[in-house]
Amino acid sequence: MRVVKSAATMQRLGRWWRRRGVRVGLVPTMGYLHEGHLSLVRRARRAVGRRGVVVVSLYVNPTQFAPHEDLARYPRDPAGDRRACRESGADVLFMPGDAEMYARNPEGAASTFVVEEALSTSMEGASRPTHFRGVTTVVAKLCNLVLPDVAVFGAKDFQQAAVVRRMVRDLKFPIRILVAPTVREPDGLAMSSRNRYLSPAERPQARVLWQCLRWADRRLRSARQPLPAAELRSGVVALVSAQPAARLDYVAFFDPETLEPLDPVPRGARMALAIVVGSTRLIDNAPVG
Ligand code: PAJ
Repeated sequence: MRVVKSAATMQRLGRWWRRRGVRVGLVPTMGYLHEGHLSLVRRARRAVGRRGVVVVSLYVNPTQFAPHEDLARYPRDPAGDRRACRESGADVLFMPGDAEMYARNPEGAASTFVVEEALSTSMEGASRPTHFRGVTTVVAKLCNLVLPDVAVFGAKDFQQAAVVRRMVRDLKFPIRILVAPTVREPDGLAMSSRNRYLSPAERPQARVLWQCLRWADRRLRSARQPLPAAELRSGVVALVSAQPAARLDYVAFFDPETLEPLDPVPRGARMALAIVVGSTRLIDNAPVG
């Protein structure tokens, strides 16, 4: 596996592959890799085949964090990430620095990339107003450096995948976006680099995200008809308030294609929620009913 730090070298490689007709798969990450990330690497390998190349990018992107968020303490383990990438079969690990990605100053970089309004202002976009602009800007840059044929994202960040897919479609990037299923811990908690912030007392309480998703799924199945969003919401509120360290940020029921809110909530809707456990903000989502 080759480690590339320079953006110019990355783009030269991308162009070289493209000229030779080598298929390229990109897996963008912020590192501290876990099994969820590695499942994306394997998905990319399946998409490009043995003769294609899989590039994992590792960059903790400052512009998608708000000033009060966890950028400074975001977990990092470059040595472990290298090992994990190599073992999961990646060909290139692209680890640019801030200077490579944003000239000198992320705040001062002149251009940001378009974010589709309706998709990016609800849910995560409502709680984190500048977040998706940072995500689409960095994903656009990564795509222009790596020049991939396919890019793989996780369903764990369902709205992010929808926003990226829309950007790629609207701006005519010749890239296929694949979305891979969420990988979970044995107790249902979605794997996340942020899980390591949880204290031993908080960790069991973090299960509540999965409990809420399962509960809404069962409730909707047994109802045999669409249910008012408020009714599902109050069930979720009750489950969350049973956990002393947990606080609900939002819960949403929406159309999985358009992300438009659904009320009443039919079977086949998608549910997403964000819960703060202690000081750690966790998100999850799943189809319900
Ligand atoms: P990060 O949180 O590191 O996640 C990188 C990719 O891994 C995302 O596509 C995310 O959805 C996926 N992922 C995370 N946890 C997962 C899990 N448990 N199962 C399956 N996939 C999972 O998302 C980002 O970084 C950044 O916003 C990025 C796209 C890299 C732009 O900076």
